Amino acid sequence: MGFNSGGATIEDLKSQINIVDVIGRVVPLKRAGANYKGVCPFHNEKTPSFVVSEQKQIFTCFGCGATGDVIEFTKRYYNLDFGEAVEKLAKEHGIELKIAGSGGNQEREKYYEVNKEAARFFYRAFTEGKNAGYTYMKKRGIEDAILKKFGIGYADESWDSLYQYFRAKGVEEKILLELGLISEKNGKYYDKFRNRVIFPIINTSGKVIGFGGRAIGDAMPKYLNSPENKIFQKKNNIYALNTTKQDVGKEGYAILVEGYMDVISLYQGGVRNVGASLGTALTENQAKLLKRYTRNVILSYDADAAGQAAAVRGLEVLSAEDIKVKVLHVTDGKDPDEYIKKNGKEAFLKLVSGALPMIDYKLNAAKRELDLSTEDGKIDYIKKASEILRKVSPASADIYIKKLSHDLKIAEGAIRMEILGNNNNVAETIHVRKNNAETESVQYINNLEATLLKVLLVNPYFSEKMLEYQEVFESDSGRKVLNLMFEKYGLSGTFELSDIMDNLEPEESKLLTETLDGIIVAGNEEQVFDECIKKWKLNQAVKKEQELINRLSLADEETSSEAIKQLTGELMQVQKEINSFGGRK
Ligand code: CTP
Ligand code: MN
Repeated sequence: MGFNSGGATIEDLKSQINIVDVIGRVVPLKRAGANYKGVCPFHNEKTPSFVVSEQKQIFTCFGCGATGDVIEFTKRYYNLDFGEAVEKLAKEHGIELKIAGSGGNQEREKYYEVNKEAARFFYRAFTEGKNAGYTYMKKRGIEDAILKKFGIGYADESWDSLYQYFRAKGVEEKILLELGLISEKNGKYYDKFRNRVIFPIINTSGKVIGFGGRAIGDAMPKYLNSPENKIFQKKNNIYALNTTKQDVGKEGYAILVEGYMDVISLYQGGVRNVGASLGTALTENQAKLLKRYTRNVILSYDADAAGQAAAVRGLEVLSAEDIKVKVLHVTDGKDPDEYIKKNGKEAFLKLVSGALPMIDYKLNAAKRELDLSTEDGKIDYIKKASEILRKVSPASADIYIKKLSHDLKIAEGAIRMEILGNNNNVAETIHVRKNNAETESVQYINNLEATLLKVLLVNPYFSEKMLEYQEVFESDSGRKVLNLMFEKYGLSGTFELSDIMDNLEPEESKLLTETLDGIIVAGNEEQVFDECIKKWKLNQAVKKEQELINRLSLADEETSSEAIKQLTGELMQVQKEINSFGGRK
């Protein structure tokens, strides 16, 4: 297998990954001068002689002699060959590799080729002669040059014009089906996109990986997107970054919006350093992709509750990747598209410069529903603020405690105590947490949830064990599916996939099938279930540990020694628990 031209090379890959992060995830490392030190994972030892150099991006064990770069480490640690190790690293870091020569790659190239041909077909329909798509986009005020820039197209009203076009060219139905360009019913093939404006989705290497189709008129769904397939994963891409990445570099920050039209209107309005997460909750891989171009992101989501919840979630995901994030709130119109059309570039840039950093944004959001002129309002606000500050680094918390104290005329010590909390507040804390979890809930089923759902599906009897651990499910979709399973199990003591599917929206059931398809647990339900629960408990314990550490480091002279003793005791308990799970993974 050879790696070359286009995409990222092996050197690019290595330059975008920090060996300390990769190794640190599986081997606890401690800073030792310019290097990091830990216990060697490749031989048995008690005293650490395994050294990782951040500067040289290599590891060396002075005990067993193992040494190499991040790829070598990944090969050895996970028992992979070179190609697999590179693939794993690239995937985890959202880096696209150009791999030549392998069979898989030729297949991908073919898919790209077909998509490109489809994009051209839609483009011609849009630009040659009168059509509803062009009329619609003109009505939305988009200029010809911008339409061209984004390769906007039109899928006509006929049932199968695209299919016939590809058939004449001898392209196999299998490919068209997989790319989601056509669908099949009773042995007949139909175009998937009909009477829609087409937005080609192009990755940063310039390949057409999928399409979004906007209904003209009231057809449902409003936007139809290509299904997930070999070359299109929504969670790995940012719409328009192929066109705007230079602008992002030039401006030093990216503006992230929800939709296609937001991107296009901002771009036309002269704000060009923009991309869209395409309506999904922002993912880790999207954050990693952005990080290749900038470390500064402004989230400019829709003004509605869904958009704001997505912004909070996006904040977390981006901050976790060490990206500096601010949130912009559009004050007029429902989204950036409407805002810039009404108010123009300068007004939008004003909103950009007024965008709030994460903590301020969260505090502001907490404040919005409260009346700070009343005593009760103030107390509620302090409680909410404490909940927010409990999760941030002690240094930032300190800054905000001072600010809050000043603004609300409440003693710093009192705010600190509130953040440290005490046992009487447990019920309240849980209540606030629950509300937080609701606003921050993720739309998509995570790995842990998916694996557990698969276990239940293979062996519905596990529903009984699962009852005790419902909390594991954080995503809306995951919880919905779990509840359906519980319901069916309660009624008839068993269920099948079809029982669940019947109760889901088509989009949801598709997502669920795709998610569950890749997970194999047959025969191992018990073990897989136990591992999942163990992993969840470990995650919970690690989160709790961090929270306790933060709270402890906020204590000062005014904090009672009783409170500190209590927290220290809890911390030791949690750390014991973490060790009993085999330590941090
Ligand atoms: N989206 C989607 N499917 C839907 C609705 C939305 O994939 N049924 C995605 C699209 O990428 C869309 C984005 O979520 O661009 C934002 O959704 P929304 O705010 O509803 O779309 P707008 O871009 O505001 O749509 P328009 O201005 O065309 O009405
Ligand atoms: Mn919108």
